[in-house]
Amino acid sequence: MAKISPSILSADFGSLKEEILKLEKGGADYIHLDVMDGLYVPNITFGPPVISKLRSITDVPFDVHLMIDRPERYIDDFVKAGADIITVHPEATVHLHRTIEAIKSHGVKAGVALNPATPLGSIEYVLDDIDLVLIMTVNPGFGGQKFIPAMKRKIRNMRDIVDSRELDILIEADGGIKLDNAKEIIDCGLDIVVVGSGIFEAEDVVERTRMFKNL
Ligand code: DX5
Ligand code: ZN
Repeated sequence: MAKISPSILSADFGSLKEEILKLEKGGADYIHLDVMDGLYVPNITFGPPVISKLRSITDVPFDVHLMIDRPERYIDDFVKAGADIITVHPEATVHLHRTIEAIKSHGVKAGVALNPATPLGSIEYVLDDIDLVLIMTVNPGFGGQKFIPAMKRKIRNMRDIVDSRELDILIEADGGIKLDNAKEIIDCGLDIVVVGSGIFEAEDVVERTRMFKNL
């Protein structure tokens, strides 16, 4: 069964504590935290100080998705803030392998996020080093976008690589995943599914989180 990592990007930022407690109550396996810098992506969200405050609210693992330029500059800060998984975009970092090693040196899981047009081959030579691949199923930057259908094949191809080579890598997908398409996307071979607006558009966030978890 796939795990659920709700993204707080579409939550009420004025009540993050209450929103996170609802996700916890609904059975969230992770909390997905979308960090954006207005440079790598055209949107700005929050950084380590906010994450560090949220850390005191819950023990649910923090799945931190860095959509920032040169993330290597801030790895220590995100580790200190309480990240359990740190995922970076290969286009944003100067030395991807070095950045992955830096993340893992803190005992934190290292992920690589692939934009829709970025081929799986771009991570060929770091497959033995990473803990997670995040397949972007929308272009990064905003919640509430439409799932890109070609990404189903990308997920299936990644699943084939992980299984045939017996790699210890989790496959996660992020963007445009709603109740009506989640099952078919998960069935392409996901371990973790990120859902933002698909949860926070619901009147009852606790119940909606449970519904995704039970898919
Ligand atoms: C997009 C973010 C996603 C986003 C998903 O850049 O990485 O995590 O919050 O939101 P939905 O589920 O609304 O597409
Ligand atoms: Zn994300």
